[in-house]
Amino acid sequence: MPAVSMRFPEGFLWGAATSAQQIEGAVDADGRGESIWDRFETRPGAIEDGSSSRVACDHYRLWREDLDRLRWLGVGAYRFSIAWPRVFPEGRGPVNEAGLDFYDALVDGLLESGIQPFVTLYHWDLPQPLQDRGGWGTRDTAFIFSDYAEAVAARLGDRVKRWVTHNEPWCIATLGHEEGHHAPGHRDPAEALRVAHHVLLSHGLAMEAVKRHAPESEAGLVLNLTPAVPATSSEGDRAAASWFDGFFNRWYLDPVFRGSYPADAVRDRVGRGHLPGEALPFVHPGDMEVISRPLDFLGVNYYSRVVMREGENGVPEAVNGRSPSELTDMGWEVYPEGLYELLRRLHREYPCPAYHITENGAAYGDEPDADGRIADRRRIEYLHRHLLSVGRAVEDGVPVRGYFVWSLLDNFEWGHGYAKRFGLFWVDYATQSRLPKDSAHWYRGVIGENAVEGVLPAS
Ligand code: FCB
Repeated sequence: MPAVSMRFPEGFLWGAATSAQQIEGAVDADGRGESIWDRFETRPGAIEDGSSSRVACDHYRLWREDLDRLRWLGVGAYRFSIAWPRVFPEGRGPVNEAGLDFYDALVDGLLESGIQPFVTLYHWDLPQPLQDRGGWGTRDTAFIFSDYAEAVAARLGDRVKRWVTHNEPWCIATLGHEEGHHAPGHRDPAEALRVAHHVLLSHGLAMEAVKRHAPESEAGLVLNLTPAVPATSSEGDRAAASWFDGFFNRWYLDPVFRGSYPADAVRDRVGRGHLPGEALPFVHPGDMEVISRPLDFLGVNYYSRVVMREGENGVPEAVNGRSPSELTDMGWEVYPEGLYELLRRLHREYPCPAYHITENGAAYGDEPDADGRIADRRRIEYLHRHLLSVGRAVEDGVPVRGYFVWSLLDNFEWGHGYAKRFGLFWVDYATQSRLPKDSAHWYRGVIGENAVEGVLPAS
């Protein structure tokens, strides 16, 4: 039976994504200051394989080659992040022009190659000196971030037309400050709520700062959104799913799109003693207006879903999804339908002029065979099935304008070190050589056709 292919709209933006701390290395080069990840990695046990991001993919030196790879793929856009400690080694004060020179050259290189830079201002690498004075737990940091955004936009705003303020505030707040798995490694739920608010506030302030220098550009925020499904239709399981949704998704969507925190989730936090009362003490007059300034686009990072049930004593807990065999190396269930459902929901409940899938991808550890081929069939399947979901949402009228594979290269996967490989290109960390995986060849074909096959291509 001939496969009917799913075509994407003319001008659909195909891309790949990375972040500074995960690929650049060269942490001491050209005046770069220390980041909270540089510091966190030195804690015994913080990184599973005991590694660090000091060299990572050495992209700071090898960026020209990596640009060739992007060109070979044929992407229309490249999402990367700026390392704040390269621009302001102390977090604020005098700009380190040498740090900005790196991104300036990268932006020019991309544009000469016909690739749009899609710049993320913050992908988790806070300058350590700012952490030393309280980090995101301190309100000041929001304003300092806005100054940083302003400095970057002043330098790159004539050429960069798409800006992301923050990547995944939930991870910054919860993984960094409540669960302690990410830098700075705190375990303080009350601080995490303050952090979430200051990050959101800084997002709104930075949107304004970017627009001052790049008024024609589009600016937005990237959220990691995870649909929560009840394990059964019991009231308790449905409440557990709604609890997760409030804590993970709506805690960020509601302030940005509706100018308020979700009342049910606030009550839950009060009940747990993380908040003194329903009037949130860290919200100052005017903050919610700044936070809810209209986005030009919402960036959606989608990897999986969660299935929730009411555990003992009514405590919500996650259980395995319906297909536990379909797990990636992260232990995340492959659930492509979730991306379709999520996009439909966003369009209905949180309408936005445009959505970009700013990250989607899977960790699988396939290695090169004797001929140097990396047959990462499962990644192709993962991406293919998710793209069909995106295509369906587009057909239904959801304004999805772009899609970025996470990630261009295997890289430093935070607390997992180098053990998880998400790349379209396989990286040999000993030699810094890279090889295209089968998925890179496949993605190149998708981009060339502006379409995916309706059924999976034969291996
Ligand atoms: C996201 C992060 C990205 C990468 C992927 C796997 O949460 O934004 O840096 O770690 O997960």
